[in-house]
Amino acid sequence: MQYRGLNELREAYLAYFESKDHLRLPSFSLIPQNDASLLLINSGMAPMKPYFTGEQEPPRHRVTTCQKCIRTGDIDNVGKTARHGTYFEMLGNFSFGDYFKREAIHWSWEFLTDVVGLDADRLYPSIYEDDEEAFAIWHNEMGIPSERIFRFGKADNFWEHGSGPCGPCSEIYYDRGEKYGCGKPSCTVGCDCDRYMEVWNNVFSQFDNDGKGNYTELKQKNIDTGMGLERLAVVVQDVDSLFEVDTVRNIMKHVEEIAGVTYHSNHESDVSLRVITDHIRSTTMMICDGVIPSNEGRGYVLRRLLRRAARHGKLLGINRPFLVDICGTVIRESGDAYPELVRSRSTSGR
Ligand code: SER
Repeated sequence: MQYRGLNELREAYLAYFESKDHLRLPSFSLIPQNDASLLLINSGMAPMKPYFTGEQEPPRHRVTTCQKCIRTGDIDNVGKTARHGTYFEMLGNFSFGDYFKREAIHWSWEFLTDVVGLDADRLYPSIYEDDEEAFAIWHNEMGIPSERIFRFGKADNFWEHGSGPCGPCSEIYYDRGEKYGCGKPSCTVGCDCDRYMEVWNNVFSQFDNDGKGNYTELKQKNIDTGMGLERLAVVVQDVDSLFEVDTVRNIMKHVEEIAGVTYHSNHESDVSLRVITDHIRSTTMMICDGVIPSNEGRGYVLRRLLRRAARHGKLLGINRPFLVDICGTVIRESGDAYPELVRSRSTSGR
């Protein structure tokens, strides 16, 4: 498999789905519009809920995006582990009442194997427990032996987030090899360790959840596909964690330079380097989209992230305002993909 940078992978994905007649849209703002159920956009589908429900007519019935996302549910683990983060980019291809399971499955496989060059023998699909339609596509059309297709229940293979469009899903896992495994005899697809990494999530969005657990069939059947860009880069670049992915590593190198410390030299400074690197990515993106620090709502999330980053700077011995300098590196690494970063440079960085 050929090495590719994160920016190159993003472009390869969006161009591939353009070649399948998808309209490429820019990332939506991190600030949800007309959606009181979310403080911040947390997935590629979130800004497009009205297109899934049929309430609004999309600009095209096939759309592809790379969406800026923030998830802070695991914030206390950020830094402590090498895999938690609050900011990530989600690649997505969406069908609003257009194609359904067959095309979504075929294209996900073709992209991962032919375009990215992942070894098909290391890829394992999973399906929702009784989704025989998805099973038949994987088995009969894609030629995947039945013992390589894993069936998972609602906790793993039914995607929903609070209220809104949701449905059963079919994920694709990549076997990163024994060196990333926990070594337990029971280790297999679905294990919590780092060996079998979920890279792709095909959600067959066909229900609406009213937020109280009542499901109704949507007017149309949709596809909501999500793939974490940093995760894909971890696999393609064969690195240990998101902090080793090229663009993220470049941000951390700048923090290392300012702090005069080296990553992987001791546990405490590694925690601080990871916290600052993650939080500077999320806060730069939030400020760029117009979030202002405050005592409530998303402004509070921003304030908390900034404070944590600043505190970890102190722990590293940095005694001057430094986050604004690191912002400049975030803008350099991601400015081509998100031109709004360059336009709002004077608000968030230098
Ligand atoms: N909504 C799904 C997810 O976030 C797929 O895009 O994983």
